[in-house]
Amino acid sequence: MARITHGIACSHIPVLGYAFDHGKEGEAYFKPAFDGFGWTRQFMAEEKPDVVILVYNDHASAFDMKIIPTFAIGCGELYGPADEGFGPRPVPPVEGHADLAWHIAQSLILDEFDMTIINEMEVDHGLTVPLSMMYGHVDKWPTKVIPLAVNVVTYPPPSGNRCWALGEAIARAVESFPEDLKVQVWGTGGMSHQLQGPRAGLINKEWDNRFLDRLVGDTQELRHIPHIEYLRETGSEGIEMVMWLIMRGALGKSTKALHRHYHVPVSNTALGHMVLEPVDGTVPPSPTLEGNSAAAQARIA
Ligand code: DHB
Ligand code: FE
Repeated sequence: MARITHGIACSHIPVLGYAFDHGKEGEAYFKPAFDGFGWTRQFMAEEKPDVVILVYNDHASAFDMKIIPTFAIGCGELYGPADEGFGPRPVPPVEGHADLAWHIAQSLILDEFDMTIINEMEVDHGLTVPLSMMYGHVDKWPTKVIPLAVNVVTYPPPSGNRCWALGEAIARAVESFPEDLKVQVWGTGGMSHQLQGPRAGLINKEWDNRFLDRLVGDTQELRHIPHIEYLRETGSEGIEMVMWLIMRGALGKSTKALHRHYHVPVSNTALGHMVLEPVDGTVPPSPTLEGNSAAAQARIA
């Protein structure tokens, strides 16, 4: 059986990708940011997950204002790095896991999450920067990746509650995949940041750290934070943190923190990173999945 072994939260600040690609990891400005990933790189080298379900948002690279899926899952075989204006990042292409991705897509849709299915796309800093942080310089990414894209770019993004519930549905989907696979779920983006307008540069360390505190243990307080609170307290781009709740929901009832890193400043963003392990991975049963699967099977028969 496939199982979710860990969850990882990580900001996806593009300038860290730039620093990484240009040998600037040791420079005084960037060093404290990169140092917080040393623990995780060691952990990943020992842990060796087979697949990462990588929750991120596309920043007008694969999608633009013509099509804006709320939740989309990558069911393809390979995703190249996107050109975001300075050429594609010099990192390896990202290999998918089409069998597991299609299984998850089917399970989520029968569980009544209306996923968009992606077969081909390029992936931007939202996905590639966390991979670089976690794995460092590699010729080939050591894991397969299922991209799960969330709209947090244009109003209205999904609620934190819906994101948490999607995470729970992802856990049910993974647990019903027969192959023995170690699966991690990553939530990327955040923490507090606002990139434009009179409040550009807004950082709220206190709020961010309370959010990190409440990812741990047996509490579901975070799922009910309203959009307006993210906006008011963490800036317009702080809403990216709802993606962390998909990761947290997928870890089940209770978690413990293995590693925590918070650093300001990096560009205009507060960098947050956490490695979580499920303590009690129980997720509630789906109100619809079993019935819908049985009905679908009956129709096929
Ligand atoms: C920055 C942060 C982001 O999350 C992003 O998508 C783009 C830019 C920044 O801090 O510069
Ligand atoms: Fe972003």
